[in-house]
Amino acid sequence: MSGPRLLEVLRQLSHEDFVSGADLARRMGCSRATVHNALAQAQDAGVRVHAVKGRGYRLPLALSWLDLEGLRARLAKRGMSPELFETLPSTNSHLMARAQAGAPHRSVAVAEWQTGGRGRRGRVWLAPPGSGIQFSLLWRFGRSVAELSGLSLAIGVLLVRALQGLGLRDARVKWPNDVVVGDAKLAGVLIELGGDMLGPASAVIGVGLNVCGAETLGPRVGQAVTDLRAHLGAVDRTTVLRVMVEALDAGLAQFDAEGFSAFSQDWHACHAHQGREVALTDGQGARVFGIAQGVDEQGALWLRTDEGVRRFHAGEVSLRGAAA
Ligand code: BTN
Repeated sequence: MSGPRLLEVLRQLSHEDFVSGADLARRMGCSRATVHNALAQAQDAGVRVHAVKGRGYRLPLALSWLDLEGLRARLAKRGMSPELFETLPSTNSHLMARAQAGAPHRSVAVAEWQTGGRGRRGRVWLAPPGSGIQFSLLWRFGRSVAELSGLSLAIGVLLVRALQGLGLRDARVKWPNDVVVGDAKLAGVLIELGGDMLGPASAVIGVGLNVCGAETLGPRVGQAVTDLRAHLGAVDRTTVLRVMVEALDAGLAQFDAEGFSAFSQDWHACHAHQGREVALTDGQGARVFGIAQGVDEQGALWLRTDEGVRRFHAGEVSLRGAAA
């Protein structure tokens, strides 16, 4: 099943009225079997569809579709010309390939739906069609890779500020750069670096944010997740996406000029675990317990443990006693 068919059938469905399989087939110019397959695939991808014999299909919750042309027009005003896709395996993979082929600084790739979204530490990133925001931004820095420590933390701050500006006052960063509300994950960031060690670095910064559907996503990813709708009600995905791209665009220029020190105070102010007892699972799977003291200029997390203060450059943090 092609992505567009799956998206097309979902776009034909409404939250208010049932649409019959025959009507869907007529509107889409295809057979009822094709409609049936598209709906089955949408459900496999995590979309809830309410089916009632004799009446047809309906969405239990309205989905907000991206206005890709509107987004293109708004970002063009900042001199950005985003590539906009209905489906893509991964916006990061796409932009990494484009970066290697010489794509310009501030290139952006957006996908309505990713079929192979990637997360940190080799994990998959799941977002059912119409339920998430996923985009990647290519930034060509004046700095070298060695001078990018703290970049991922600065990005967390920028996303939290953007979300707070949209009304989500409780958005916080979980080290290094997850965006959480309470203990539940709202957004994640995947940064992939390019360039050699000494010359100017480039980074593809991929952001995934849950807009709705956390109730079906949580059990699939085995982690506490939340979504924007739970906190802000129905939101316009295009506006949220634009606000986040603009926040990164402005903030990364500041990071390039000033480094993480310009963000450190804000990072600590929105650090979900500051001063709290946490468990950190390091790269080898060992668990360390301690009180989160905050981060240093390199972005390393400081934990006060029974053996004294220890510094960590990588790992997964959770509140002590909570699932990682
Ligand atoms: C994580 O928390 O593990 C990071 C998730 C990053 C997901 C985004 S969605 C857009 C971009 N494309 C990808 O394949 N991944 C990132």
